[in-house]
Amino acid sequence: MKKFNRTLVTTALPYANGPVHIGHLAGVYVPADIYVRYLRMKGEDVLLIGGSDEHGVPITIKAQKEGITPQDVVDKYHNIIKDSFEKFGISFDVYSRTSNDIHHETASEFFKTLHEKGEFIEKTSEQYYDAEANQFLADRYITGTCPHCKSEGAYGDQCESCGTSLNATDLIDPRSSITGNKPELKETKHWYLPLDKYEPYLKQWILEEHKEWKPNVYGQCKSWLDNGLHPRAVTRDLNWGVPVPVDGGEGKVLYVWFDAPIGYISATKEHTPDWEKYWKAEDSKMVHFIGKDNIVFHCIIFPSMLKAEGSYILPENVPSNEFLNLEGDKISTSRNWAVWLHEYLEEFPEKQDVLRYVLTANAPETKDNDFTWKDFQARNNNELVAILGNFVNRALVLTHKYYKGIVPEAGELNDFDKETLAEIPVIKANVEKNLETYHFREALKEAMNLARLGNKYLADTEPWKVIKTDEERVKTIMNICLQISTNLSTLMEPFLPFTAIRLREFLNIEALAWENIGENVIEAGHQINKATLLFEKIEDATIQEQVDKLLATKAANEAENKPVTPAKDNINFDDFMKMDVRVGTITEAEKVAKTKKLLKLTVDTGIDQRTVVSGIAEHYKPEEIIGKQVSILVNLEPKKLKGIESQGMILMAEDADGKLSFVSPDQAVKPGSEIR
Ligand code: 2FM
Ligand code: ZN
Repeated sequence: MKKFNRTLVTTALPYANGPVHIGHLAGVYVPADIYVRYLRMKGEDVLLIGGSDEHGVPITIKAQKEGITPQDVVDKYHNIIKDSFEKFGISFDVYSRTSNDIHHETASEFFKTLHEKGEFIEKTSEQYYDAEANQFLADRYITGTCPHCKSEGAYGDQCESCGTSLNATDLIDPRSSITGNKPELKETKHWYLPLDKYEPYLKQWILEEHKEWKPNVYGQCKSWLDNGLHPRAVTRDLNWGVPVPVDGGEGKVLYVWFDAPIGYISATKEHTPDWEKYWKAEDSKMVHFIGKDNIVFHCIIFPSMLKAEGSYILPENVPSNEFLNLEGDKISTSRNWAVWLHEYLEEFPEKQDVLRYVLTANAPETKDNDFTWKDFQARNNNELVAILGNFVNRALVLTHKYYKGIVPEAGELNDFDKETLAEIPVIKANVEKNLETYHFREALKEAMNLARLGNKYLADTEPWKVIKTDEERVKTIMNICLQISTNLSTLMEPFLPFTAIRLREFLNIEALAWENIGENVIEAGHQINKATLLFEKIEDATIQEQVDKLLATKAANEAENKPVTPAKDNINFDDFMKMDVRVGTITEAEKVAKTKKLLKLTVDTGIDQRTVVSGIAEHYKPEEIIGKQVSILVNLEPKKLKGIESQGMILMAEDADGKLSFVSPDQAVKPGSEIR
């Protein structure tokens, strides 16, 4: 096996066009953080690189929608994203952004080098152009009818109704989303990277030399390589991004997927003048943590770019995860179907490790997985509280109770003590093996086995009983429990860094190195601190609040997508004039007994005071509508409802999700005024 002397870990740069959610954390940032924390604890030279991806069309579209500049958009979200990562303990050595000068320079230089080496093909093709807006249209800026499912509003790169990927020229009746005009085709020149040139190399490098890559990653690469690679445009007609730095590049920028991975290089440069040793030395190991939609860019396109440049190393592994769904549905920023990290931090203060734990225990490592609030609660209550928290708490409380918090000296160990302690290095080795092969959920399960071991040891040795008969023996038992607790604080650190710190505070010890796991590091006579609970139970009501929040989102999305009821058949003017609609004022209101929906109203119609029974009790409280002016149909035949004669009908506006509102004049008018 190849020997490496340092590790460069990169994490996909999230687009700065929205905040980050649990899918980001589960798929990329928590596993990457676990990995680098582990390597640092082993004393290795490692860098964790991240940053925001601030170019690309989604950002310009968002800016246009909100009437602000793209820079405003990325400034806002970069800060929110950076803050969320920091608060979740993602221990970046640098978190940069691609709108920084250092990135523009680095990406520009990279492009120029490839250009000078003759690595690009220049090609002219026809692309849609909006003459009024005086600009070429990116695929996302063109909408039209999908040629497959015929739904309207399909984008130039994809129809979101049927999911088919499209070329802008496939759309029926294409329109520019800037002016609404029909775009024209116009010639434009672009620079292409001939991926086909690197195909034989990539086949050897991935398919032969990296068979150890995860099956989902290897499989996707194989399918791309088997289908054959083609030249790919690396520039775009757009005015937001890194300008194309060569003759003929005016008004064009580098394609976002060309500049974004170079962002890893720029960020490393920003962090250290010694950046080249991480990127260019053969004894450096590079690992890209990404989500599955990024596989082709990190395994095929970026490596081809690096190869074309010639002086860089290629990734040693790309442990991409699959997707995390939320309560059975795909996470979606546009549908607001997500658990946003900045909201979680506010709603679950001090519970970052709970989410880190749940997302690792349920990580989408081999297939898409589902996050549910029920599972979140169960893992907290049945695992963190009942296994880890419970063991540590009992160990610390008993030490205070029997020895005033002073670590007792162990006497002679019996076989069970020895067997228990011998398990620790075995668990350590299992955790290591899994971390080094990117099996983070298995690694966490193994680490939790140490807490399980502690609980089993306590249950079998029963110090609370033995104390009555053999005080010396209890000293040994508690000494061993404290050794296990100390080891837990080290072993859990990569996964639950906040918990590890608290546990060390309880134990009154400094941070330990990975190699200390298994050693007896807590000395007899050492004073430990008073402890509080490491984790607390999460109640049903807290979970229900989150579920309700999602249900409200679902209802809002459904209402938004529900078509407006089509218009009814025409009626003639005389029919319309038969209806006598007036403005009335509600003077009294009360609930109709034994009904959920009905209110009994007294309405001043200007003609008379009359009783109307109205089905609005789920929308308005009686006391809040007294004095309200409403529209009332006064010549509707009276009808008995629940024994009350209703004389007329209050007109209500009903929206798609069934919400009712009064139709009221926009200023006070005399009751009896006619509505026509
Ligand atoms: O998919 C995404 O969110 C991209 N912004 C990831 C870029 S990764 C890297 F290349 F920068
Ligand atoms: Zn379609």
